[in-house]
Amino acid sequence: MRIDVVTLFPDFVQQSAAVGVVGRAQQRKLLQVETFNPRDFTHDVHRTVDGRPFGGGPGMVMLIEPLRAALAAVREAAPEPVHVIYLSPQGTRLTQGRVKALAAMPRIALLCGRYEGVDERLLAHEVDEELSIGDYVLSGGELAAAIVIDAVGRLQEGALNDALSAQQDSFSDGLLDCPHYTRPVQHDAWGGVPEVLLSGDHAAIARWRLKQSLGRTWLRRPDLLTQRVLDAQSRALLDEFRREYSRQQQAAAGDGPQQ
Ligand code: ADE
Repeated sequence: MRIDVVTLFPDFVQQSAAVGVVGRAQQRKLLQVETFNPRDFTHDVHRTVDGRPFGGGPGMVMLIEPLRAALAAVREAAPEPVHVIYLSPQGTRLTQGRVKALAAMPRIALLCGRYEGVDERLLAHEVDEELSIGDYVLSGGELAAAIVIDAVGRLQEGALNDALSAQQDSFSDGLLDCPHYTRPVQHDAWGGVPEVLLSGDHAAIARWRLKQSLGRTWLRRPDLLTQRVLDAQSRALLDEFRREYSRQQQAAAGDGPQQ
């Protein structure tokens, strides 16, 4: 997959895409990240990329021309059609489902705004999709682009050493991930690992993990459960989790059943 990024801060984007799983995906030629700086597409001595907003108000707005020329260079850089995404807090909220769909495309381009934003006419004519990474405002699209590159890059086939880990991620099936444990089996201060994980009984472990995923989602992100129909096994496991959870809560509050 190829990801082109139009940004005033190409070094930041390249550096963030050079480390970890995404860096490895680039080395393995599973992913190619290229940057285009709108300043390189200006024709004045000051390399101007922004202008005052018509109608007044604070801040500056990114000019049409340098961005249009940068996007034209993006389109010409490879033969495949490119899906152009503008990163902004006004966009549709990014989800793992959208990440999966983007990861299946041969090419995307990420347009990073700075200042107060980008001239609306450029967005209307050059952009296919507007995406937000969350309900907060960043000072530019670069951090959001780095997030999209990471989330999309790690899903390229062969990027993760263990293909199962992507399938088991939080959100990949609409649920949060279960808790994980490693050595030591018994920690001096913080106790032991859940018995079932040491049992070697793979069916019981899978059942426990699904129950924890369902329980965590119910506790932390109940909105995710309302968006999804649970099968009979999942409903039974969630009921079991809730009963155990309420017993633990009562015991912790000191009002558990008298022995
Ligand atoms: N640029 C500024 N804030 C942003 C956000 N929340 N998501 C995506 N791009 C942004």
